[in-house]
Amino acid sequence: MQLKVYSVLLIILTSLFYSDTYAQETMANVYGRSLQSLNGKWDAIVDLYAQGRGNKIYLNKKPEGKTDFYEYSFENGLRLNVPSDWNSQLPELKYYEGTIWYARKFDASKETNKRLFLYFGAVSYRCRIYLNGKEIGQHEGGFTPFQIEITNAVKEKDNFLAVEVNNTRTVDAIPAMAFDWWNYGGITRDVFLVTTPQVFIEDYFIQLDKYKSNKIDARVKLSEKIANTSVTIEIPELKIKQTFKTDHNGEIKTSFTVNKVTRWSPQSPKLYDVIVSSESDKIEEKIGFRNIWVKGENIYLNDRPLFLKAISFHEEIPQRKGRAFSEADAVMLLSEAKALGCNMIRLAHYPQNEYTVRLAEKMGFLLWEEIPIWQGIDFKNEETKAKAGKMIQEMVMRDKNRCALAFWGVANETQPSEPRNQFLKYLIDRCKAIDTTRLITAAFDLVRFDRDKQVFVMNDPFIKELDVVAVNKYMGWYHQWPVSPEKAVWDVAKGQPLIISEFGGEALYGKIGDAHTVSSWSEDYQATLYKDNLEMFKHIPNLRGTAPWILFDFRSPFRFHPINQEGWNRKGLISDQGYRKKAWYLMKEYYDRIK
Ligand code: GCU
Repeated sequence: MQLKVYSVLLIILTSLFYSDTYAQETMANVYGRSLQSLNGKWDAIVDLYAQGRGNKIYLNKKPEGKTDFYEYSFENGLRLNVPSDWNSQLPELKYYEGTIWYARKFDASKETNKRLFLYFGAVSYRCRIYLNGKEIGQHEGGFTPFQIEITNAVKEKDNFLAVEVNNTRTVDAIPAMAFDWWNYGGITRDVFLVTTPQVFIEDYFIQLDKYKSNKIDARVKLSEKIANTSVTIEIPELKIKQTFKTDHNGEIKTSFTVNKVTRWSPQSPKLYDVIVSSESDKIEEKIGFRNIWVKGENIYLNDRPLFLKAISFHEEIPQRKGRAFSEADAVMLLSEAKALGCNMIRLAHYPQNEYTVRLAEKMGFLLWEEIPIWQGIDFKNEETKAKAGKMIQEMVMRDKNRCALAFWGVANETQPSEPRNQFLKYLIDRCKAIDTTRLITAAFDLVRFDRDKQVFVMNDPFIKELDVVAVNKYMGWYHQWPVSPEKAVWDVAKGQPLIISEFGGEALYGKIGDAHTVSSWSEDYQATLYKDNLEMFKHIPNLRGTAPWILFDFRSPFRFHPINQEGWNRKGLISDQGYRKKAWYLMKEYYDRIK
């Protein structure tokens, strides 16, 4: 009972502390705009007892008279890299969960008729932003971007920016109290000053019709509700240059016919230069065009049935024991996925940074993106539902122009209940309010073996809300074989496409052992497990994709074994030091056989 009271108190305190009020929806394609990077070494203060805000340390006071003194200073103390998690920067911060303050100064050119925004790619998990001694914004959610307009709050010289970051897990958060990855905290992605014209192109969404290969739908939104002003959309290679007049909301919504589009696909990841311009702004980016839809038990990409040769990875560089955040990190992770022969990546279990998403698109990977609705979420909590809705909207708004994104995932291993169903339906609605074309999916761990029927079955009516059903099933690891793999028949999600979104088992790289003993934690056992699962997959009639869990060993506080794990989940096909295990070669051969 005591713990329950404490948890409720913590929720109340945290929600008072972090109501997500000021952060704004980010403008489309920040990386394509006029940017000043604020990345680098920031001053930092570890505020374990969360005293800083009460002591107003964001004022950055300095002693003036003989009797003044302040028991803090941002200068000459700890300095942390931005972007990066804090856990990997100092041994004593490995498990740190609490508040850390970041601060830095910056100059800003105050040009007339220009606006200035502060942009954060992500801050994990919640934060408050202070500029020149005033709170200007807050955000909750460790994996989506936000921005705050500072046009009228900024000086030419010596602006003092303080960011109060907290990564304490709470029952009402997303993810909540326990999850199988490291609780990295910090300013984990890029920080920019973004300069725009007074009236700028705030958002646009340009994509091929869900079904037609000759119709492009386009929406453009200006930052101000100015009617009857011109907006031009150009796709030079398709000989498209059309000008439209905005409506009373400062928007255009239109479609136009295109001929001979080379549709994007993993085999041919064609991207077109797209230029959107208004009377005062112009923005360019590369956009791909493809069709994806479901019919019966098949997924069709550009009118052809598709089999997803997928893999998952966390946003982590194992050798650095830290969050991935850079283009170089994206190259490392995606190159290994390409070497394995994959055509799709499940970006587990949260929206990953834009470098990864954009490079994956250029390299020809379809993507599944999700927010961390991971197992135990407070589905009955309306505030949590609202947070999740905002989080998934931020994800969809950021990546809606990425044609590589084929799936929006709304849950991972949730248990059936009416509150859960309502919560997930709300998330699906939030996705579809922005984008009606992508496939909605979710991963379940509810498949069980029916001994009477001698068949694998699953009973969760919620799957009818989905375009594609995904199943996490650890045969040979968490579940032993009730029948031999060649006799393992599945009757799951009949009439819908099914993908195995997670399967696998642990192995310590280099450990040779009994190929039939799970606790050997050997590469030999992991290889046997993969052989058996690949055999079972032959007997799943509506199987349309597989995704081994997982590309690399990854860090998790769940994993206690002192020799085999030491705080690592060892299900990687590749070890934390980058060595490919025996199972990697089996998976590579399996994918190479699928054309
Ligand atoms: C679950 C979960 C993963 C987890 C994995 C495991 O299916 O979705 O996040 O890491 O199992 O137990 O290794």
